[in-house]
Amino acid sequence: MSAPPPDELRELARVAAAADRILIITGAGISADSGLPTYRGIGGLYVREQTADAVPIEVALSGEMMRDDPALCWKYIAQIENACRAAVANPGHVAIRRIETLRPGCWTLTQNVDGLHRAAGSQRLIEIHGNVQRLYCTVCAHSERRADFEGLDIPPACPRCAGLLRPDVVLFNEMLPEPAVETLHGIMAAGPQLVISVGTSSAFPYIAAPMWQAREQGVPSLEINPDITPVSDLARYRWPLRAAEALPALADALEALVRA
Ligand code: OAD
Repeated sequence: MSAPPPDELRELARVAAAADRILIITGAGISADSGLPTYRGIGGLYVREQTADAVPIEVALSGEMMRDDPALCWKYIAQIENACRAAVANPGHVAIRRIETLRPGCWTLTQNVDGLHRAAGSQRLIEIHGNVQRLYCTVCAHSERRADFEGLDIPPACPRCAGLLRPDVVLFNEMLPEPAVETLHGIMAAGPQLVISVGTSSAFPYIAAPMWQAREQGVPSLEINPDITPVSDLARYRWPLRAAEALPALADALEALVRA
């Protein structure tokens, strides 16, 4: 497949144009089109068994490691931030912002910490794994936003109290941020009328759950992913395409309908 099937594209644009509530779920695959590495799959960060420090990456990037050996944990966070630094939002991110503008009841649930949805202008955004550009002090109430980590000591100290600064991201074995979870629960309770899952391996239950709910409630759903995932069989439509080629086609078709 090199483009969405025209009949499916028309049908999904029609559903989106009539939907008051749309949920778009995104993962590392959408940012792969901006040149960022994914976590799993070919070239993924977790594909190698061990880091250079002889611990699995899930251990290096865990809440325990941030507490016990912040320098090691920060080393891998800084690598992720470094990969994000040159990246800019791609046509997939822009298409999601366009869909949000055309359909005000559209929300995006992202696992990405790279800030590219925000850079593309998305506002109804749930960053369920946080954002690497926000730092906060583990000791006092200081927090700050940094465009990048250029010139930052690793691990960085709080400018106010010299305590450890850390990024506002969800590390392994940490809780999800409460406000993000509450917003997501509200969306799920209201019941999205269209669910689109893009560029995620759906490794976590709260990411797969909206696709399950859509299936159970007979709500249309679409998966955009070149690979098969645990939610592939749940999706009513499946486009094995890159996010940056599939999403602009959907935004164009929706725009044509809404503006007609
Ligand atoms: P993964 O790396 O697990 O999955 C990326 C998915 O994107 C795979 O299913 C790929 O097939 C697909 N993909 C690759 N290129 C694509 C493209 N151009 N267009 C569309 N899809 C493409 O990434 P996530 O599912 O986001 O969590 O991983 C979830 C979480 O695992 C991350 O947020 C991170 C990690 O542990 C934390 O850091 C807490």
